[in-house]
Amino acid sequence: MKKEMKVTPWEVSGAVDYNKLIEQFGVSKIDDKILSRFKKHTRKLHPLLERGVFFAHRDLNWLLDQYEKGNKFFLYTGRAPSGPVHLGHLMPWIFTKWLQDVFGVELWFQFPDEEKFLFNQKMTFEEVEKYTYENMLDVIALGFNPRKTHFIVDTKHAGLMYKPACKVAKKITFSMARSSFGFNESTNIGSIFYTSMQAVPAFLPSVIKNKKIPCLIPHAVDQDPHFRLTRDILPKLGYYKPASIQCVFLPPLNGVSGKMSSSKEYAIYTTDSPKEVERKIKKYAFSGGRDTLEEHREKGGNPEIDVCFQYLKFLFEPDNKKLEKIYRDYKSGKMLTSELKEITIKKINAFLKEHQKRRKRAARQISKFMYKD
Ligand code: TRP
Repeated sequence: MKKEMKVTPWEVSGAVDYNKLIEQFGVSKIDDKILSRFKKHTRKLHPLLERGVFFAHRDLNWLLDQYEKGNKFFLYTGRAPSGPVHLGHLMPWIFTKWLQDVFGVELWFQFPDEEKFLFNQKMTFEEVEKYTYENMLDVIALGFNPRKTHFIVDTKHAGLMYKPACKVAKKITFSMARSSFGFNESTNIGSIFYTSMQAVPAFLPSVIKNKKIPCLIPHAVDQDPHFRLTRDILPKLGYYKPASIQCVFLPPLNGVSGKMSSSKEYAIYTTDSPKEVERKIKKYAFSGGRDTLEEHREKGGNPEIDVCFQYLKFLFEPDNKKLEKIYRDYKSGKMLTSELKEITIKKINAFLKEHQKRRKRAARQISKFMYKD
């Protein structure tokens, strides 16, 4: 029997059916109408939008209405430091960077360094602290504008965040939190409170500047339960509901569904060496190719279920024409799995080479990004 789909901020399992998620979560699908509205402002569409990786949203039309009236929004996204960054994490951040550039807006980037400490019995603050630093390097390496980007670290900015968090917490009952996140009697009370901290950056700039400012949150779809609650509560506190734009997960090496995550072997980390990337792709990348060369040449492969093809589509081949050619050649059997893997390894390694260079330089810049109140 197939494992049932489960998507929560802390667990993703079973085959993920994104259309079903749209229904379950009550988000809206990103359609052509909204894409052309976007295009009016951005001229070009980012491949992550054009190719449906960002597939769902809440209130984007409202956000664009506000923008068109001259009411600029700010961006908000985040990362709970709990381990090294892999390619899947980068996807929403790369998109956020594009949004920052094309709309010329501020970004608030949260590092909730208590989140994984609270949710994972084994995690210590020492470990989290190390990853907070490491993860910041990855974020900075993507090229965010330091003058327009503010890092907030929950335990460091606690003085600033605690009051607004309490205002949110006061409006959330245990039964609301339980039904949003599946908590039970043995859930620790820190975990139950946590969502109030994740809500704060969605209105913190409004608190600081003492005026209502629209907010857009780019995030992977599993974070939606947090922001569903945030959206219920902020109007009660006198702020706008945050809008959101949500992406699918980058698949792990060994399969086309689910999320590139905890399993070290099935993820490609931003610090992996070229050899390591090559080894992982060759050994694990799930292939849509046929069992034998003859069969592949005759019947062709299936790019839809091929992990390498998905990586090219999601992140590494921005040129539509080139991507289409790979699609056709693979499907017709002209291109072999080994060739597709070779292309993908090259592309990923070229990206990582540059990223790792920028990552080294990023250490000096952290203080420029840290919000100072
Ligand atoms: N909970 C997210 C994680 O596990 C971190 C996070 C905090 C976040 N605020 C966010 C993610 C806003 C997306 C948008 O990594």
